[in-house]
Amino acid sequence: RPLDINIELPDEQSAQKLKIGIYFATWWALNVVFNIYNKKVLNAFPYPWLTSTLSLACGSLMMLVSWATRIAEAPKTDLDFWKTLFPVAVAHTIGHVAATVSMSKVAVSFTHIIKSGEPAFSVLVSRFFLGETFPLPVYLSLLPIIGGCALAAVTELNFNMIGFMGAMISNLAFVFRNIFSKKGMKGKSVSGMNYYACLSMMSLLILTPFAIAVEGPKMWAAGWENAVSQQIGPNFVWWVVAQSVFYHLYNQVSYMSLDQISPLTFSIGNTMKRISVIVASIIIFHTPVQPVNALGAAIAILGTFLYSQAKM
Ligand code: 3PG
Repeated sequence: RPLDINIELPDEQSAQKLKIGIYFATWWALNVVFNIYNKKVLNAFPYPWLTSTLSLACGSLMMLVSWATRIAEAPKTDLDFWKTLFPVAVAHTIGHVAATVSMSKVAVSFTHIIKSGEPAFSVLVSRFFLGETFPLPVYLSLLPIIGGCALAAVTELNFNMIGFMGAMISNLAFVFRNIFSKKGMKGKSVSGMNYYACLSMMSLLILTPFAIAVEGPKMWAAGWENAVSQQIGPNFVWWVVAQSVFYHLYNQVSYMSLDQISPLTFSIGNTMKRISVIVASIIIFHTPVQPVNALGAAIAILGTFLYSQAKM
């Protein structure tokens, strides 16, 4: 019945486009909220290793409860699945903690400007670790990405080396995470949502001992007393809850979209997400921005668009 197929196909395509559009919009909105609360928490209580651990713990708990109450169906996994997940979880843990450390040291907008350079890391990793080669326009598109990030970094009013390096390490780690994830999800019956749930749980196990070693209960207790003495207010606990819940939700939705799209489309969506985060955080936190600093960010983001065109 070829006639039926011809009639149904455009509908299916637009339904799929609409679905991905909704995923993207939800992902960006959840991410903006996460970034705002995460920074509010870090401003009052600058312990990024603990807050990163809490985000993963909250997500893991939410998913365990969803499986136990059958709100979501638990995935059927075997040892092979967990073995393949391990490198993804290591990369996710490093990328997550590095980004949070970065945001504890610099403005949210600065971390995300540097993180908009992720496509450049993706090309370099694919070239040097996977031996992939790209057409010349792809390499040329890296120039505005790298140049724009560099210009934004040198003109950043509150530059901090740990903040800068954290964002760079996060870029590198997330490129590996995305490559391994897409491979790990291919041909598997585990959905994007459950894949991210398992990833959260494994990352939590990896991160907890490091968080205790790097910061630990003594530091947390001292930080808490200090925060209380500065009258952080009763809302603080809700900020922690909000940053943890929204962290899980935005990642879950991003994995649900990764399930449906190519890693390239994913990374373009991710860069566009950063525009909303940069603008929202500058407005909410009254971040001082110099025109040349904003120019650097704009060049870097434009470079990402050129990169996506060149790659297509
Ligand atoms: C994190 O804490 O993992 C980062 O804020 C995530 O950065 P992303 O915008 O690349 O997901």
